[in-house]
Amino acid sequence: MLKLKGSIKISGDKSISHRALIFAALSIGKTKITNLLESNDVMSTLEILRNLGITIKKEGNKWIVFGNGTSGFIEPNKSLDCGNSGTTARLMIGAVASNPIKCTFVGDKSLSKRSMSRVTYYLEEIGSQINITKNDYLPLMIEGNDKLLPVNHEVLKPSAQVKSALILAALNITGKSTIIERVATRDHTEKMMKYLKIKFKTSKLNNGSKKIELNGPYEIKSRNINVAGDPSSAAFFIVAALILPGSKIELKNIALNPTRIAFIQVLKNMGGKIRIKKTKNFSGEDVGNIYVQYSFLKGVSIKSSQAPMLIDEYPIISIAATQAKGKTTMKGLSELRHKESDRVKSIVLNLKKLGFDVRNKGEDIYIKYKNVVISNTKEVKTYGDHRIAMSFSILKLIYGKKIKIDDPSCISISYPEFNSHLKKLLVSN
Ligand code: S3P
Repeated sequence: MLKLKGSIKISGDKSISHRALIFAALSIGKTKITNLLESNDVMSTLEILRNLGITIKKEGNKWIVFGNGTSGFIEPNKSLDCGNSGTTARLMIGAVASNPIKCTFVGDKSLSKRSMSRVTYYLEEIGSQINITKNDYLPLMIEGNDKLLPVNHEVLKPSAQVKSALILAALNITGKSTIIERVATRDHTEKMMKYLKIKFKTSKLNNGSKKIELNGPYEIKSRNINVAGDPSSAAFFIVAALILPGSKIELKNIALNPTRIAFIQVLKNMGGKIRIKKTKNFSGEDVGNIYVQYSFLKGVSIKSSQAPMLIDEYPIISIAATQAKGKTTMKGLSELRHKESDRVKSIVLNLKKLGFDVRNKGEDIYIKYKNVVISNTKEVKTYGDHRIAMSFSILKLIYGKKIKIDDPSCISISYPEFNSHLKKLLVSN
């Protein structure tokens, strides 16, 4: 039987890494970025910035970005390839919108099936010229414009990517732009703006919405950025330690942003023995160490209102649920259908195939404990989705060769060091 023991430092956070590069490019001067996540997704953002005229170099283990300011992008002479990365596409479309340049954005097969109108709808309203495939998908062409209108946007779907795209556009719009989000989403963009001393206001409205007010155009002074460890990546090892008897681990330098670690409370409610110790602050984000040990888990009910704060962790929470006594209910997962794969389908079909008692009704998933014995090797399909590949790699620690993962190569999209970190922690009894 395998278990996890020891201590590791988790790689840099994906959301913060994208934002570190983009804000460094929009600043004036040189930014040194430490602990940037060097995953395919983040490298897509980096290459696009280079194509927009930003010089980016690696010196030792730091990335150096020479920023050109909020109106400093130059027209690229080739298409901007976002690869598999929804964050790259949505944030960069917003970032170029208020620069007077023409850009074509493309992406891989999976990204070309993900909605872009959720961002372009708002940008067209303020004056961007956009041609978009079938009204919703990449490839898309955008003619940026430095005379976009400062308006009041109300973002109905909970999406940190959409909010951030509108904020990035607003940095070079003259006048007051307001972004209201009905449901609060992860706030790395706001935290980074505060760290960079960008003047903006946030307030809470009577109906619970969050209002963000910007007054552009901004001149941002560069400041070195240290990227905190990724809690969503840590989640895989946290669940592994919870479900493998005898495990005890320490994960260091994890971002403790409350909009990202709601899954820890869910796992604690399941009976997980998890302790968090805040240690430092990295460029505006609290970080700390997380201690986890094997625990007896029980099922929980997760309300739909929690979905925006758990959005990337449902696949690994589902794996924890297969090992938890009783029933786990996860409600209101509609946004999960619009990720790197339709994650409701990827979770349910794979767990069913392996013999677990899992049911999908509408946008909800129900997992009931069942002592599953897999007799013949079964193949899990990742659908090219990194979080599905990593989640089932954790379940595989229990079932060994009885589970085969069809294509684990997609793991490098968000966590190239996943396998080497797992190896460091794994010991056999
Ligand atoms: C992200 C926001 C989330 C998340 C994605 C990264 C970000 O998407 O799923 O992995 O960096 O802003 P939405 O906020 O669009 O749901």
